[in-house]
Amino acid sequence: MINKCFVPFPILETDRLLLRLVEKTDVEQLYEVLSDAEVAKFDYFHPLTSLDQALEFIARFKNELEENEEITWGIILKETNRLIGTCCLGSFDDGARRVEIGYDIAQAEWGKGYATEALGAVINYGFNTMNLNRIEATITPGNDASVKVLKKLNFEHEGIVRERDLIKGKLEDGIMMSILQRDYVLLHK
Ligand SMILES: CC(C)(COP(=O)(O)OP(=O)(O)OC[C@H]1O[C@@H](n2cnc3c(N)ncnc32)[C@H](O)[C@@H]1OP(=O)(O)O)[C@@H](O)C(=O)NCCC(=O)NCCS
Repeated sequence: MINKCFVPFPILETDRLLLRLVEKTDVEQLYEVLSDAEVAKFDYFHPLTSLDQALEFIARFKNELEENEEITWGIILKETNRLIGTCCLGSFDDGARRVEIGYDIAQAEWGKGYATEALGAVINYGFNTMNLNRIEATITPGNDASVKVLKKLNFEHEGIVRERDLIKGKLEDGIMMSILQRDYVLLHK
């Protein structure tokens, strides 16, 4: 079974980042991230157009957490105390101890290693505390930065899953990438 130990909320820390619950007070910063068409480009959602929509995201994160369906962390840059993105683990398969990972970073902060740093902490939490066996991601072809981040974190490219996801009304293939607990343990011995 997956260990869903989300109470109290697991705050994670790295050199430059704090990963914590997304609060209502983060609404403007979350809106800034998710209203950007470049951030939304390969994802299910259309760029947000109002703060109310960002509040709906925050309410959904809270609800999914309470239902043990998904955990979303706000990525806070310690230097400025601002939310610069989010990352999540969801689509839990309890028997197989498998989850999907998701993430986004504000465009102004791309290329500074923040996604790699945040996901590194989340993956460590997933394997060492949640006792996951497999963390997977499906990436829309063309999202090369996302593939690069996962490769840096030692995810393996497994192949193409055909027409897997409905992205803004269009069925898109997905690049399937994953990392297994035993590989992670070997790499971090
Ligand atoms: C994917 C994303 C989270 C990466 O965030 P980030 O903080 O810029 O990531 P990092 O800085 O840790 O690493 C990005 C790497 O990709 C590289 N990269 C950036 N754009 C690239 C491109 N078009 N092609 C290939 N590599 C690219 C960077 O050079 C960097 O590699 P390096 O460290 O070897 O130089 C960010 O681009 C994003 O939020 N995109 C929109 C949302 C999204 O696509 N989420 C993932 C859904 S699966």
